[in-house]
Amino acid sequence: MRRINKTFGAVQALIDVDFKLQPGEILGLVGDNSAGKSTLMKILTGAYQRDSGDVLVAGKGTDFRSPHESREVGIEMIYQDFALCGNMDVGQNIFLGRWPRRGLFVDRKKMYSDAGEVLQRLKVDVNSVYQKVESLSGGRQQSVAIARAISFEPKVIILDEPTANLSVMATERLLETMLELKKHNVAQVIISHRLQDIFAVGDRVMVLKRGRHVGERDVSQSTQEEVLRLIVQGDAEEKTQAK
Ligand SMILES: Nc1ncnc2c1ncn2[C@@H]1O[C@H](COP(=O)(O)OP(=O)(O)OP(=O)(O)O)[C@@H](O)[C@H]1O
Ligand SMILES: [Mg+2]
Repeated sequence: MRRINKTFGAVQALIDVDFKLQPGEILGLVGDNSAGKSTLMKILTGAYQRDSGDVLVAGKGTDFRSPHESREVGIEMIYQDFALCGNMDVGQNIFLGRWPRRGLFVDRKKMYSDAGEVLQRLKVDVNSVYQKVESLSGGRQQSVAIARAISFEPKVIILDEPTANLSVMATERLLETMLELKKHNVAQVIISHRLQDIFAVGDRVMVLKRGRHVGERDVSQSTQEEVLRLIVQGDAEEKTQAK
């Protein structure tokens, strides 16, 4: 993404932001509340439209009008609020909008067995694919949203605050899943306020502050303290150090 700008009324949510992601890479996207993290990723998926700037996927300029279009090229985002249908069950949610059919009818048997398979592959502890999603805890709903995204076999996965609702165990499992996907060369963005998660699995971390890109670090060559400083102070300190 090159020089992305986005305003909402008087709010400048993104100002000339550059963003890059490589196959197989795990990128931590961090910044204070309202820094523009979710907005930047929603522009990538086509959920929001940019005011200006370019989005290139595999070198090709794109202009996704909706997440359906970015899904076609293998981009999946798991939203902060998961966007599941609470009154439907787990199986129906995983295959929402593409329920397997047999003639005119939904092939329920196949849907639930496929859903079970995805969950098992993820080692997700959702006990029953027949359970209504609204009856699950926040953490389990999160897992269902992730299972749904992965079932599309995307090349790029964007996880917006995926561990905010998760227990220690579930967080560990999610981080393991991310490393597993990395082995399959899936590129992943993890938006998180928990730097320890990003430092556990990430390759690179990018910092936004009030809509601006203020820094980027290789995880192996940085520390949580340094990244925290960037989040709070931006690159002001670096500039004074450079003087
Ligand atoms: N649909 C919208 N309409 C109006 N303003 C919006 C909309 N989406 C985002 N904004 C504004 O854009 C700015 C950036 O918001 P964004 O959600 O991208 O921040 P964020 O970095 O994801 O924050 P958080 O850590 O709280 O999730 C904020 O000032 C927010 O109020
Ligand atoms: Mg956000």
